[in-house]
Amino acid sequence: MAKIALFGANGTIGSRVLREALDRGHQVTAVVRDPKKLTETHENLTVVTGDVLDPKSVEAVAAGQDVVVSAVGGGDGPGHVATIEPAAKSLVAGVRALGEKAPRLITVGGAGSLRTPDGKQVWDAEGLPEFLLQIMHAHGDALDYYRTVTDVRWTNLSPAGLIEPGERTGTYRTALEDLVVDGSGKSRISAEDYAVALVDEIEEANHIGERFTVGD
Ligand SMILES: NC(=O)c1ccc[n+]([C@@H]2O[C@H](COP(=O)([O-])OP(=O)(O)OC[C@H]3O[C@@H](n4cnc5c(N)ncnc54)[C@H](OP(=O)(O)O)[C@@H]3O)[C@@H](O)[C@H]2O)c1
Repeated sequence: MAKIALFGANGTIGSRVLREALDRGHQVTAVVRDPKKLTETHENLTVVTGDVLDPKSVEAVAAGQDVVVSAVGGGDGPGHVATIEPAAKSLVAGVRALGEKAPRLITVGGAGSLRTPDGKQVWDAEGLPEFLLQIMHAHGDALDYYRTVTDVRWTNLSPAGLIEPGERTGTYRTALEDLVVDGSGKSRISAEDYAVALVDEIEEANHIGERFTVGD
């Protein structure tokens, strides 16, 4: 059983991570801005308020945990720019402040920086709308920052190109830098199977200090 602090527990992906972690017997502290929004109840669930952009808030909820997970988003493009890399810096600072007792840090990333079969990156595709490019590069900037961090045990998990609520099959494929695609070239994962992969990483710690990605 792991003790997990989860930012973004109200979100599309965070709520699946919350359910998967609780179903596997982990103890979860959901860190939300508005507790009224969180409808989930469970004997292993504690709900606290916190702000991922405030390192002191991160430090307070990270104390005593085994893992801090962040599934935060920023809504639109500018919202992601204002949230994702600043959150990365705040999360690292808050966790780092706990010194030898610092928990691991696992963050939900983006697919934009992944390599495509033609050797380019997802964000190089023609015709991507500006808001999407902003979201992709916000995650890319956060990943660049994580890669400078050597004193916190971080992991960044990029979804497939498409992630949406769906079925929990319990199976997935992983890669490090290459977009995971199926036989027809599509890259997708259900939010439920993404959560399976993330909670597997909590339990198995296969990707400390690196980014990996998951597809169906
Ligand atoms: N293919 C891809 O690469 C791909 C696809 C989808 C999503 N993603 C990424 O996955 C992440 C999660 O996406 P999602 O769709 O699950 O997002 P979502 O449904 O919009 O949820 C985002 C969550 O972040 C929380 N949040 C935002 N700012 C916060 C702050 N300062 N402090 C604490 N919590 C904060 C929100 O809390 P409130 O409820 O209080 O607003 C919400 O629970 C995003 O970063 C997104 O870019 C990547």
